[in-house]
Amino acid sequence: MILVTGASGHFGNAAIDFLLAKGVEASQILALVRNEQTSDDFTKKGVGVVIGDYENYASLVSAFHGVEKLLFVSGSDIVKRLSQHQNVVNAAKEAGVKHLVYTSFQRKDESETSPLWMVAQSHIQTEKWLKESGIDYTILKNNLYLDFLPGFIGEKVLETGVIYVPAESGKVGAVLRSEMAEAAASILATSGHEGKEYDFTNSEAASYEEIAHWISEVSGKTITYISPSAEDYGKTLASYGVPAEAIGIFSSFAVAQAKGELDAVSTDLVKLLGRKPLSVRDLVSSLYSAKV
Ligand SMILES: NC(=O)c1ccc[n+]([C@@H]2O[C@H](COP(=O)([O-])OP(=O)(O)OC[C@H]3O[C@@H](n4cnc5c(N)ncnc54)[C@H](OP(=O)(O)O)[C@@H]3O)[C@@H](O)[C@H]2O)c1
Repeated sequence: MILVTGASGHFGNAAIDFLLAKGVEASQILALVRNEQTSDDFTKKGVGVVIGDYENYASLVSAFHGVEKLLFVSGSDIVKRLSQHQNVVNAAKEAGVKHLVYTSFQRKDESETSPLWMVAQSHIQTEKWLKESGIDYTILKNNLYLDFLPGFIGEKVLETGVIYVPAESGKVGAVLRSEMAEAAASILATSGHEGKEYDFTNSEAASYEEIAHWISEVSGKTITYISPSAEDYGKTLASYGVPAEAIGIFSSFAVAQAKGELDAVSTDLVKLLGRKPLSVRDLVSSLYSAKV
């Protein structure tokens, strides 16, 4: 039996669909949700539903009972997830899960001074707990979701003609979330992944200078790239009414890109997907090409 946590979310939901597409019987898949109202789609597909909350240890032990492979999708509450993740790993151990696949995060700097420390801390600790647990594990070091790149480029880039983000010349190896979920499903559906750590990065990393150039090429409009200070960036976003929390997240990810934290390239996804993931250039071309 394969259980997928975060099944109501983008990554978990996609992973379940890819498991089905790869021929895994629906009766061999369980979706963990914390809200029963999100279970209808799974039931229609013949996928079992179990209720569990990362906050509720007993619910997890009960949900994980009889599960051989577990896709643990990291929690979305950055403030609370350290203890939530501890619950998941401990419950998997208590329930006798044999193999746990964890959606972790790409990083280079593992110190508290990392611009991504607020995100990385719980991932680093969870990986440690997992390795100490004795459960067979596979760690997916997910780069930035390529789906989020337009947010950094700026929704109105074709109107403003400017990409304004404090990423300097840093490159990012972002990958579509759906392609990461497809690769995770591939790991669950095949053998030989125990003890492995995979870098879920693109085959080429891209800088915002390059992105500005590619958008100019396909749109026919000149796009320039300005890398302001993080402080000026924050002030500008605030002047457009962006909430402080979102400014904090965008700024830290942009500064992390400037520092090369997400400048990573690996062939792991090519091997798992059997093709190159969608490149940053291809995404940009499809999003910004001039509509004739
Ligand atoms: N690499 C990146 O660029 C990037 C970006 C954003 C996030 N992430 C990480 O990747 C994860 C998956 O991404 P996503 O796009 O699928 O996120 P998402 O759509 O927000 O899904 C998060 C899932 O986690 C579930 N969840 C949250 N708290 C839970 C709890 N206490 N107990 C049980 N389930 C809980 C949610 O359930 P509900 O539907 O009940 O809320 C949802 O199913 C995120 O949670 C985050 O850790 C990575």
